[in-house]
Formats: sequence, structure tokens, C-alpha cells
Amino acid sequence: MAIRKIARMGHPVLMEPAKPVSDPTMPEIRLILRDMIDTMIDAKGAGLAAPQIYEPLRMVIFEAPKIRAQAEAGDSEPDLAAYAPRTVLINPEIEILTEDTAPGWEGCLSVPGLRGLVPRYTYLRYRGVNEDGEPIEREARGFHARVVQHECDHLDGVLFPQRMRDMRSLVFESEWTEFREAMQRKRDDRRNPAAP
Ligand code: NI
Repeated sequence: MAIRKIARMGHPVLMEPAKPVSDPTMPEIRLILRDMIDTMIDAKGAGLAAPQIYEPLRMVIFEAPKIRAQAEAGDSEPDLAAYAPRTVLINPEIEILTEDTAPGWEGCLSVPGLRGLVPRYTYLRYRGVNEDGEPIEREARGFHARVVQHECDHLDGVLFPQRMRDMRSLVFESEWTEFREAMQRKRDDRRNPAAP
């Protein structure tokens, strides 16, 4: 087990397209995947892409916990596509299944201390293979779709700030709660304008 150093925004390894993995079952690949999992768990991330540990290969790991999908669904049972167990996805391909996007807050282990509001497609299908070379094909919605888009972006040298529409919502984690409260107050004011 090894916890690796995580590359930070500005390092060239995060800006270049990663290379396809020719044989996912090679021992070297297994070792990198093991380190990615250890590193993600240690850093308490929801996902990690191989370039983030200086390995420019098309491999991501992520999880979309059911408890989170449950919270998004409210009283109804969450859609099966809204959550996924910890997944290793090698040579992923994404097919977007909707034109709808939704804003959501994202952070990134390579952009420590910052969060931003990022629009993402709400529904997609992804394909790839797992660590045993077996095919994976799943549909994803909500946070599950978001984390897959975020991680696969890393394989094309794209970090979440590059997907933002309004850089005013790129904020430090320490100011995040206050920022969201201010946004909420603005929305409330628009809904209930003060009497003239
Ligand atoms: Ni990231």
C-alpha cells in the first residue's frame, strides 16, 4: 500500500491528454490502481484520476454513495443510476444522454482549498473495463454523472475551473458556507422584494 503525492493545478501532467491503457491486467497497472485507491481514501476524495498521481494513463476511480443519492431523492427511492460502488474504470468513454445540465459544487484534490459551481450533464452512459479487463457499461445520473464527468475530464487535461461559467463562484472552502448563505439571501430577496 502506498499513498502517493497528488499533482496540483499548474503541473503539466494535469494539462495533457492521458494515454490509453493497452493491457489493464498488467501487474504495473494493478499497482498504480492500488495506489490510486489508497491515495483517494487517505485524501477523503470521491474520485481520482491516474494523472493526479503523475501517471498519464486513462484510468479513474470514483464512488457515488447511495446515501448521497438518497439525500438528493428526498422521500422517494433514488434512481439506480444515481449511485455506484467504488469503481475502477479503465479507458472510459462517455455518451451524453441529455442536453440538460445542472450546477453543482465541486472540489478537486488537485485544486486544494477551493470549490466552484460547475454545470454538468445530468444523464449519461459510460463504458470501459475494470481492473480484470471485464467490460463495464452503466448509466449515471445526478452526483454519479457529475463525478464521472469530473474524473474523465482529468484524462483530457481539464480541471473543474475550466468548466465553470461564472468565476465569481470559485471560492475558498473556508468562505464557502458564507458564500452560499449570501447566494440564498439574494434569491430570497428576489422572491420577496422589500416594499418600496
Ligand atoms: Ni479532480
